[in-house]
Amino acid sequence: TRLGLIFGGRSAEHEISVISAMHVLHFIDKEKYSVTPIYISRQGVFYTGEQLLNTECYKSLEAIPGMCGEILVKPGGGSENAFILSEAAGKPLKIDVLLPVFHGPNGEDGTLQGLFEMLDVAYTSCPVLSSALCRDKVVFKFVMQAMGIPVLEFDWLYRWDWEGGRSGIVSQISGGLGFPVIIKPVSSGSSIGIRIAKCEKELEASVDTALKFSERVVIEKLMNNFREVNCAVLKQRDEVLVTECEEEIPHGEMLTFTDKYTDNLKRNFPCTIPQEARNTIWDMSKRIYRGIDCKGTVRMDYLYDEVSGEVYMNEINTIAGALSYDLWEGSGISFTEIINSMVDEALS
Ligand code: DAL
Ligand code: MG
Repeated sequence: TRLGLIFGGRSAEHEISVISAMHVLHFIDKEKYSVTPIYISRQGVFYTGEQLLNTECYKSLEAIPGMCGEILVKPGGGSENAFILSEAAGKPLKIDVLLPVFHGPNGEDGTLQGLFEMLDVAYTSCPVLSSALCRDKVVFKFVMQAMGIPVLEFDWLYRWDWEGGRSGIVSQISGGLGFPVIIKPVSSGSSIGIRIAKCEKELEASVDTALKFSERVVIEKLMNNFREVNCAVLKQRDEVLVTECEEEIPHGEMLTFTDKYTDNLKRNFPCTIPQEARNTIWDMSKRIYRGIDCKGTVRMDYLYDEVSGEVYMNEINTIAGALSYDLWEGSGISFTEIINSMVDEALS
């Protein structure tokens, strides 16, 4: 089977995607699959070439364009053509199935999945609908509420609401949710653009920050006594598999980008929350996976309230960091097998 490993992308999480892809590459059964790397640069140019299978190449990738290999697709800008297929792609790429490893916009959000659908090529990730839904922190909560899945209390705003009258919004939030609150861009990941606000002044600055990353902002009540617990989920034939739960322990009040991507992040795996709460998480995960039509391996992030024992759905990463290989391997399920299942599902 000819497998296209596609990664990088026009996203603030570009570098994490490259790291994830290299991890995934490590686990791919090289006897079973021939791997063609397809790298999308920060500017959105698609490249291919054997050199992209080499981790070393990413150190100088964008500094030395030749390092990226052959250009496949180039996005247009403004009045230029929407995209240009390179002359050099004279010998067509032959791929049976694409394995997308992107984080954030333009890859994890349904945009590329739409392109794959149009091109009629099999791919291993969630389809357009669930990919887009899980990237939108507001619409996602609406759907969870409709499914009867608990989510934290929240409010949200558009950039133009904010530009039209920030003081009214600030008083509405301080009189409604109160403080502290956590402010997030509606569509970013890895804690990028996320801030905590404890007063009106901090709220204003945090909304300004979040608006740099998306057109809408979600504001959630920040609760004490919350623990961040997650698990990975996958459909294998007619069964939905769920890993053990993991707890991520922040250094401060919330998990930051540094917490997530430096070795000193503390993780409890399997985590120590009560069995009843773990059962709730496993049941909810299966229900949600089926309810919103997920595919491939996704990571579901929950909040566990130590005081009430309640579990809240926080968010879903349809393409989680390194596709959660550590959760699978840690649960005694080989990640190589998981990749095989994803490919089988995509081709079925
Ligand atoms: N968005 C990052 C990659 C994650 O949640 O794993
Ligand atoms: Mg998360």
